[in-house]
Amino acid sequence: MLNLSPRPGDLDPIETASREEIADLQLARLKWSLRHAYDNVAHYRQSFDAAGVHPDDLKTLSDLSKFPFATKQTLRDNYPFGLFAVPQEQVARVHASSGTTGKPTVVGYTRSDIKVWASVVARSIRAAGGRPGMKCHVAYGYGLFTGGLGAHYGAEELGLTVIPMSGGMTERQVTLIEDFRPDIIMVTPSYMLAILDEYRSRGLDPRKSPLKVGVFGAEPWTNSMREEIEEAFDMHAVDIYGLSEVMGPGVASECVETKDGLHIWEDHFYPEIIDPDTGEVLPDGEVGELVFTSLTKEAMPVIRYRTRDLTRLLPGTARSMRRMEKVTGRSDDMMILRGVNVFPTQIEEQLLRVPALAPHYLVELTREGRMDEMTVHVEALPSHADEAHRAAAAAELRAHLKNVIGISARVHVADPGGVERSMGKARRVIDNRPKS
Ligand code: DLL
Repeated sequence: MLNLSPRPGDLDPIETASREEIADLQLARLKWSLRHAYDNVAHYRQSFDAAGVHPDDLKTLSDLSKFPFATKQTLRDNYPFGLFAVPQEQVARVHASSGTTGKPTVVGYTRSDIKVWASVVARSIRAAGGRPGMKCHVAYGYGLFTGGLGAHYGAEELGLTVIPMSGGMTERQVTLIEDFRPDIIMVTPSYMLAILDEYRSRGLDPRKSPLKVGVFGAEPWTNSMREEIEEAFDMHAVDIYGLSEVMGPGVASECVETKDGLHIWEDHFYPEIIDPDTGEVLPDGEVGELVFTSLTKEAMPVIRYRTRDLTRLLPGTARSMRRMEKVTGRSDDMMILRGVNVFPTQIEEQLLRVPALAPHYLVELTREGRMDEMTVHVEALPSHADEAHRAAAAAELRAHLKNVIGISARVHVADPGGVERSMGKARRVIDNRPKS
């Protein structure tokens, strides 16, 4: 794989600033953001008043802990535009997330917000190894989802040639990668696996593809999956994180030279980790729920937004800004099987240890009598699709799940191609338990 470390002078000065400089900037911006939310959004005025706090009470960064949280429910309660802090004519764009239940959550951007967003995505792509002049294939979905347009504007901002492919039409994805020869692909890691299948089914060698870097995010994925993809394509696989409520992609990103967690672009997004049960702020290094406060967002400031993503904060390495550990799960995705907490990514890790199995999976939960059962649906590689290999692979995965995670799950090994493919964010769990 190519050495794509940045050269001196490539970075924004703030990326290598001292912690004091970063904290000073954050405090000034945080004061502005609290005041902006309080003055212009009825919800924040009411919730601050109800909690007995005022923007003037923030004297230090840690005073933020006095302010109330916002949640997905806050967005639903104010659907569609109730959290906007600027008049509609200053809103340049809206995005929305579909949400599996109820109304979508809607977010808005001023022209200046879109510029800031493009700049943080450009910073993220550069951290991943992107340089002006490279070509970038964007296979995140375009539309209300923030992935496609967010990646697109960032890639343009960095000076790349953008190929706005969007998701789906997997055959065409491969044809255009081979013909247009992009250096970078931006896509969900699960959809990258569908692209890998297509390479193999056409008899093309993915290691000879033009791709040098994948900027993968929008869903949890493991370091084992990173190794799988890097090996298959002979490319760097780098993590990008974000969420629409806070901005979209580009809230935090890994650096290609370290791949040791995601630097949070702390000059725009202030992170806290809280105990999800008590709401208490935890010190850096401890695992809990990630909470963000926007520092510069005009159209829709968010104050202490609870992401439900679980991670911990770590000191900076390749950049001065703090890192968040790779997100291995959302509190919503946690399954409890006979008293053991399990995230889909833990299953992914064990699956990738079994050489006869393809990296696709789906977890099904059912209830038999009073007991919850888990079936892990996986598929055999074409070279290992006979009965004997499948039985051996199922036994091997069952043993890993038992020995490493401590769960007794059934394993169903389907034919090659038998597990549902993702076109964007993969669905990892189907819950077929009766609703109580
Ligand atoms: O998924 C934004 C995005 C697009 C990020 C493209 C990266 C690349 P939402 O649809 O609002 O926004 O979903 C946000 O997705 O709270 C996490 O649970 C999950 N997520 C996003 N990136 C990662 C990641 C976009 N790198 C939700 N690792 C977040 C793990 C991620 N989970």
